Amino acid sequence: MIVFNQLPNIGLEFMNIEHQQAADLFNKIETDFKRHDVDAVIAGILEIQQHCIEHFAHEEREMKTYEYPPYNVHKQAHDRVLMEIDMVVKQLQSHRTLSKISSYIEHGFPSWFSHHLATMDKVTAEFILSQQAVKSA
Ligand SMILES: [Fe+2]
Repeated sequence: MIVFNQLPNIGLEFMNIEHQQAADLFNKIETDFKRHDVDAVIAGILEIQQHCIEHFAHEEREMKTYEYPPYNVHKQAHDRVLMEIDMVVKQLQSHRTLSKISSYIEHGFPSWFSHHLATMDKVTAEFILSQQAVKSA
């Protein structure tokens, strides 16, 4: 389970809102996973996949707007996780075996999420905020 309030607060509100939405979507998947409801888990993963595509694109737009120098490093992290989610979806759709994705649900995604927030997103938000401060000064 992802407890949103225990995650680092990122200075940018749009990130906090969208991260909270991702945490809610993930927690629903985890509940359905524990209930062994394969169809609900597939539907939930498709939903979080769509959310991540849109959310990452949003962060990437902001990084470009403020010419964030390590843009590529952050984008590559996003691309990697989108590939992982895609593999999980395909795996589930073809085998319908929840045990094959248990490590991703129990550890993979939640630990990636909290680590990514605490590192790349936090640093990116600090950079964008400092650029906004320069522009409004
Ligand atoms: Fe990010």
